[in-house]
Amino acid sequence: MQRIVLGIETSCDDTGIALLQYVEEQQSFKILSDQLASQTDVHKLYGGVVPELAAREHLRALPVLFGQALDQSGIKRSEINAIAVTRGPGLKGCLLMGLGFAKGLALTLKCPLVGVHHIEGHLLAPFLTHSDLHFPYLALVVSGGHTELIEVRAVGDYNLIARTSDDAAGEAFDKSAALLGIEYPGGPKLAALADSCAESSFELPKVMRQAEGFSFSGLKTAISLLVKKHESRLSSEPDLVAELAHAIQESIVDALMFKLRKAIKNTGIRKVVVTGGVSANKNLRDCVANLKGVDVYFPDFRYCMDNAAMIAYVGSLRFKFGERAGLDLEAKSRWPVELLLPPFASEGSGHE
Ligand code: KG4
Ligand code: ZN
Repeated sequence: MQRIVLGIETSCDDTGIALLQYVEEQQSFKILSDQLASQTDVHKLYGGVVPELAAREHLRALPVLFGQALDQSGIKRSEINAIAVTRGPGLKGCLLMGLGFAKGLALTLKCPLVGVHHIEGHLLAPFLTHSDLHFPYLALVVSGGHTELIEVRAVGDYNLIARTSDDAAGEAFDKSAALLGIEYPGGPKLAALADSCAESSFELPKVMRQAEGFSFSGLKTAISLLVKKHESRLSSEPDLVAELAHAIQESIVDALMFKLRKAIKNTGIRKVVVTGGVSANKNLRDCVANLKGVDVYFPDFRYCMDNAAMIAYVGSLRFKFGERAGLDLEAKSRWPVELLLPPFASEGSGHE
């Protein structure tokens, strides 16, 4: 059976609409359209995501992107068989925009709806790029909103190894960049500066060695003290800024790699997926790629970032097993991914 699944993503500051064709018998899929609207220019003025503005932008972008997806794919509205929408976790007002749009369409097109977990989207997104990937694998999800290390055993079977108790890795990059006077979101610029400098005479503490989860608050304080100490020279000494950026990048990547190495050792799993916006970081990529005896998978960058193709893909898997949501489907701004169940376990049980 062939199904056309519409995916909708509005959990944070990127609006995504995708159309995916899924052929159940062959378990094959094709992305017919994958539309994304970034809100960076709106939030840049405020140095971070403003939830109310993000929700308003989603409301504006959704119908536009939907129209573009139909045009690009040549699919008619009436040909859509199912709608997959991000239900959480994320910013409540933003999730509500996506859910409202999805429910309106489900009602008018008379097609079923399923609520998708955003992190499950990131965890399974590598399949959009790598058809040779098999369970189990370790997934490091590092973005502006999440930092999670998960053992992915099967669809819906996720064992949490580590999660951040405060900032996400991308936030640590962005906030450090702001301290160096780099405009939001400064992560990529900080990384470019860091890579322009071969080594740094500055040293930051090795953090999170004992703790179970990730935490970037201690490192943030150390970075802030280090930058303040040299503040008066920042504007006149670009080499000093690059050296500081180098030390900052090294300390963030070191914290991620320490936990990843430990997880590989403890689980014996030698397949690693790195995803999320921070997976663009060259230093992180090189460190992961250099892990001995480990197969590493990086999804195409467009599927590393927030996107609706991964939501449509997860939706298609869950639809296949009979999962359906009602029009009373609610947003879940907090929703630990390890609480999800495999689709067959939740078959016919509604939303969860
Ligand atoms: O997944 P993503 O596109 O969206 C959100 O989570 O909102 O991730 C964006 C994050 C930002 O924090 C950005 O600074 C960070 O990913 N980022 C990077 C790099 N490219 C993007 N951080 C470090 N190095 C990079 N090259
Ligand atoms: Zn995300």
